[in-house]
Amino acid sequence: MQLILIGFMGSGKTTIARKIAHHFHCDWVDLDRYIMQEQQMTINEIFAEKGQAAFRQMEFEALQVLIQNDGVIATGGGVVDDAQTRYLIKQSHIPIFFLNGSYEAHWRRVSRNDRRPLVNQLGHDGLRELYYERRPKYYRLANYTIFFQHKTPNMMLAEIDVQL
Ligand code: S3P
Repeated sequence: MQLILIGFMGSGKTTIARKIAHHFHCDWVDLDRYIMQEQQMTINEIFAEKGQAAFRQMEFEALQVLIQNDGVIATGGGVVDDAQTRYLIKQSHIPIFFLNGSYEAHWRRVSRNDRRPLVNQLGHDGLRELYYERRPKYYRLANYTIFFQHKTPNMMLAEIDVQL
């Protein structure tokens, strides 16, 4: 069982990855957490000390390893901004699910904590621009789009399940 979740920050990729893995008795991995473990740094520290471009390269290299294994991968919201990473994901032929919702629904979820450097840097309006810039890239990359608003994780799991 292999599956990749994409979507903007706060779309619930990590929660749903865990849920799918539990349901299908398979492994799951969160790309951010994997990178934090590899680097022994938080995402905020990586952005501050190494920069966003270096982080994008880390995402690419981590995904090169992770797509070799079985299981569910929750990606970071920015993987679609890197052409080589987009290509890597596309050519893996692993089913790609886009978790989608309105900008405000994402904002409500991400503004609750400060572990995401871009939320702190861009604020509500700047992040909205990024959301609209990325949205077509998620649509283009995904095989399936699942809307998360007004749905429990179980409802989303059911929707994903019927597509597999
Ligand atoms: C980012 C999304 C984050 C994390 C980093 C950058 C982005 O992941 O990789 O803060 O550029 O959208 P989540 O989508 O899991 O929050």
